[in-house]
Amino acid sequence: MRLLVLGGTKNLGRHVVEAALRDGHDVTLFNRGLTNPSLFPEATRLVGERAAPEVLATGEWDGAIDLSGFLVSDVWRSAELLRDRVARYTFMSSIAVYASKTEPGLTEDAELLSWPEDAADDEFSMDLYGPHKIRAEQVLAEVFGERAASVRSGFVVGPYNPDFGNWGEALASGKAPECAARPDQPVQYLDARDLAAFLLRLTMRGPGGAFNAVSSTLSMAEFAEVWRSVVPGALPVDWEPAVDRFHLTDDGTFQLSNARALAAGLEVRPAEDSARACVEWIAAGNTPPPPPH
Ligand SMILES: NC(=O)c1ccc[n+]([C@@H]2O[C@H](COP(=O)([O-])OP(=O)(O)OC[C@H]3O[C@@H](n4cnc5c(N)ncnc54)[C@H](OP(=O)(O)O)[C@@H]3O)[C@@H](O)[C@H]2O)c1
Repeated sequence: MRLLVLGGTKNLGRHVVEAALRDGHDVTLFNRGLTNPSLFPEATRLVGERAAPEVLATGEWDGAIDLSGFLVSDVWRSAELLRDRVARYTFMSSIAVYASKTEPGLTEDAELLSWPEDAADDEFSMDLYGPHKIRAEQVLAEVFGERAASVRSGFVVGPYNPDFGNWGEALASGKAPECAARPDQPVQYLDARDLAAFLLRLTMRGPGGAFNAVSSTLSMAEFAEVWRSVVPGALPVDWEPAVDRFHLTDDGTFQLSNARALAAGLEVRPAEDSARACVEWIAAGNTPPPPPH
């Protein structure tokens, strides 16, 4: 497949490009060339800004994966340009699009955030993260119809990605994992490698529409035990750390239904596998980036 990746050189995006190249796809990267510019020399590079994507005015692709869409104005601009030259368009969205996430079993049809009346479509703030994502999904559905897919994730874990609290770092160095959450608080996550595979699968074969790409629900205590289990003799979890390094809102979030994503081919590897990969990656001397918004 001729694949256009918007972003692709950081965190989740690195896994997408690694997997695409491993599978033999012909990859074109579109980004500013600022983040890890020496990665993926075998890919074609188009250097440009989301706000001025003229470099995308020529070329044809079987699929595009958009990892760098944070402003609806940016997403609209590239969608308009690519409308007739990209067969399928997959957008990396977020579970932040929902108006409320407290109802267990929340599906993709649940109520979405509305756009604040006084907001500008080319300005970003943390409060506008979810509204921009959902408006971008809607723009893409208008432009590409059933050829557009939107993938909604929460916490993404794995090498290159932020540490979950200090768990990877603590377990790699014999310290106590910290967790500023209730032990029975629900949590969902997804391994960046499983998410990358799902993004590629949807882009190649569809279907279109929105997907909650999350694991099944665990309690924080169960999740922490899985992580501790990959390091023999790991210290107990500190449930009252001085600093909350990875804030988890205690509102019943992370009980979303992932049924639609599973039916479309999302595969979720065992949590042990994700934990082991993170701990080994940090133990090898790598430093995780700060937590995402
Ligand atoms: N990580 C999570 O936990 C999580 C959870 C839910 C959803 N998401 C979504 O997943 C997506 C990917 O996130 P990520 O953490 O892998 O990477 P990211 O930090 O969102 O994106 C980085 C990539 O985009 C490029 N980029 C950034 N700003 C750009 C601009 N103005 N113009 C052109 N290119 C630009 C960067 O390259 P240059 O700097 O070289 O331009 C880099 O390749 C995001 O859309 C995010 O909202 C992430």
